[in-house]
Amino acid sequence: MGTNTFYNMSRWAAFWCKRALLRVVFRSFLLMSIILLSISIMVLSPNLYSVNEAHRPTTVSALVTGRQSINSTLHCAIQNGSLSTFARKYANHYTANDVDFLVAVDIIMKRKWQQNSAFSQVFRNDLRAALGDKGKLDRFILTRQNVRWGDKINFYRHKASARISRQLWQLLPKDTFFKPGIIQRCSVVGSSGILKGSQCGHSIDKADFVFRFNLADVKGYETDVGGKTNFTTLNPSLIMIKYSSLRRKEDRTRFAEALKQFKGSLLFLPAFAFKWRYQMLIQAASVAKKSVGLQPIFGHPDHYTSVANLWQKTINGTRWTTTGLHVLSSILDFCEQIDVYGFWPFPTTLDGRAVSYHYHNDINGTTSHSFGKEFRGLVYLHEQGIIKLHIGSC
Ligand SMILES: *[C@@H]1O[C@H](CO)[C@@H](O)[C@H](O)[C@H]1NC(C)=O
Ligand SMILES: *[C@@H]1O[C@H](CO)[C@@H](O)[C@H](O)[C@H]1NC(C)=O
Ligand SMILES: *[C@@H]1O[C@H](CO)[C@@H](O)[C@H](O)[C@H]1NC(C)=O
Ligand SMILES: *[C@@H]1O[C@H](CO)[C@@H](O)[C@H](O)[C@H]1NC(C)=O
Ligand SMILES: *[C@@H]1O[C@H](CO)[C@@H](O)[C@H](O)[C@H]1NC(C)=O
Repeated sequence: MGTNTFYNMSRWAAFWCKRALLRVVFRSFLLMSIILLSISIMVLSPNLYSVNEAHRPTTVSALVTGRQSINSTLHCAIQNGSLSTFARKYANHYTANDVDFLVAVDIIMKRKWQQNSAFSQVFRNDLRAALGDKGKLDRFILTRQNVRWGDKINFYRHKASARISRQLWQLLPKDTFFKPGIIQRCSVVGSSGILKGSQCGHSIDKADFVFRFNLADVKGYETDVGGKTNFTTLNPSLIMIKYSSLRRKEDRTRFAEALKQFKGSLLFLPAFAFKWRYQMLIQAASVAKKSVGLQPIFGHPDHYTSVANLWQKTINGTRWTTTGLHVLSSILDFCEQIDVYGFWPFPTTLDGRAVSYHYHNDINGTTSHSFGKEFRGLVYLHEQGIIKLHIGSC
């Protein structure tokens, strides 16, 4: 970006902030009117906002949840880029109580969603500033541009390192696919059972680039989850459990067979979490490339660390940010518009139907991540018009 553009943007930001502050008075007035109007609506029509009879929300608590959208300081970009400034600005805005939170989610999801370009820009700037150089988009994955053969790489979940071996070097792409602003629409598809019967396949496939996770099957589920895949991740635990760590030829054949439904996709491997799983992931990458022609890509451990530090501080989650949130926060500069499907950490839908952990199998969930806290972060981004979250049917 040229100095001129930057200068213009700063002037634009300053102008915008001043204007935003002037608007506060007007907005407070508007808020009062909205609250009064809502109270009248509630009184006249008590069922309008309720999830079900048992949990009718109190008007104010439900509305107060959305107060941040009228907080004008939120719209002014962070100037000094510190991580703690970001954490304070975007801290969790919702109650920790799931029942009350779901009431708020129901209200938020019923509102008409509109992309907020100005705030998206501010959020993207803030995120970029807080992530710093290590968290830049061009360091999302290892490429022959950002590492050299023989370089030392640190694992992020324990103190250990490895050198970029000849075998790994040969698997690395020459350059990154992830360049700022080159994709218009992205679908990010989680694997929650909330997608079952959603009929979201068509809507998901309309995007230019589709992200999926941990080889979640698409074959046989196209109506609900779509058929297009441009990026899917693979966790080491899946290779260990489902493909016996690829020890026998028969395991590797079965693995290659499962990969066929993702033909043409990138295969993202978090190879630098644990050293003792590193070699197995390199082997998985080789199989994927040789037998199915998938391009393996390896998450850069420094990039993961900066994203994980940021969210640990901001949403007070566990140390280990999920691959879902890692990918989502990495691609805000890659995609202009992001639609999110299949993220739902609760055992029932908003109207009380049971939701399985995955749409494609019947395993039970894990407790090693803070899905509930991460999901609150997604709802917040939806509420602010930065991403569009899809819950339920399309
Ligand atoms: C910059 O960051 C420091 C440390 O978090 C904070 O105390 C200070 O107020 C920030 N300055 C601005 C202008 O935001
Ligand atoms: C607006 O947001 C800032 C920072 O998140 C916070 O310190 C301030 O109290 C908020 N103001 C209102 C009126 O909510
Ligand atoms: C995404 O994948 C589809 C097929 O699954 C392909 O047609 C399309 O070109 C890919 N998009 C990009 C931007 O690579
Ligand atoms: C963060 O989480 C811990 C443990 O869950 C809790 O004790 C602490 O009060 C939380 N901090 C904030 C700022 O929410
Ligand atoms: C999942 O949990 C339920 C209830 O706790 C149990 O009945 C079921 O067998 C579990 N399923 C698997 C695949 O472990």
